[in-house]
Amino acid sequence: MQEIYKKAIDVIRQYTDKTPEIGLVLGSGLGKLADTLENRVAIAYDKIPGWPQSTVAGHSGQLVIGELEGKIVVAQQGRAHFYEGYDLKQVTFPIRIMYYLGVRTLILTNAAGGLNVNYSAGDVMLLQDHINFVGMAGFSPLRGPNDDEIGPRFPGMVQSYDRELRAIARDVARENNITLREGVYVCLAGPTFETPAEVRMLRILGADAAGMSTAHEVVVARHAGMRVMACSGITNVAIDSPDVEFETNHEEVLETGKVIVPKLETIIRGVLQKI
Ligand code: HPA
Repeated sequence: MQEIYKKAIDVIRQYTDKTPEIGLVLGSGLGKLADTLENRVAIAYDKIPGWPQSTVAGHSGQLVIGELEGKIVVAQQGRAHFYEGYDLKQVTFPIRIMYYLGVRTLILTNAAGGLNVNYSAGDVMLLQDHINFVGMAGFSPLRGPNDDEIGPRFPGMVQSYDRELRAIARDVARENNITLREGVYVCLAGPTFETPAEVRMLRILGADAAGMSTAHEVVVARHAGMRVMACSGITNVAIDSPDVEFETNHEEVLETGKVIVPKLETIIRGVLQKI
């Protein structure tokens, strides 16, 4: 294990000796689930060496370790993004730490804009796949020497969003009368929201929801062989015409997050019960 990871693990181990098997990454305005963990310890990110601080409103910035539905879980309450100025190795540092703590199943959430014309603000979309624009532009957290102890030089990305976990999530949503969309997430660098022309382009490319996170974390998780499930909270619908009065904004993203949290909590708890 590289020294930077070892230092962080040593600090986390001073707070808890629990071995979490499940990792949760809770995105913009979606962090509340971590407050419901039982027997939890919370570690502020600034106590953990190497951990990127989240500077954005709606991200509270602590690592919470505890139990959820009988499983030992480590939850990231807020994440760092590429647009904040971090490089992708820093952005994905927490995923490596989760891996070293023992996590083999990772569940991620994010706030995203709905591109699919059938989506509404407040919907939840299960990620079936992603288009990683940031990655395709040459920014990969795996760029540089490969850590062969963790995973291969050329990781496959076909089975990125675990089929079995997706089937379980669909079952849970059905049992709880939650409309669960399933679609393709496109990862953009941000921090600008999309122009109307970009929205129309992204639709043509097959994307259903747009956001500024997740894909890099999934790359690192898949490299390490973790099973991954991810959900987007559709906090706003993308605007596809320049001739309208409204503008996408972060307040809207956080406000709609509140409607989405209970749905995500039901889905995540249900999935944890069944795995
Ligand atoms: N675009 C990109 N990222 C987002 C959006 C959006 O409309 N909403 C929340 N995150």
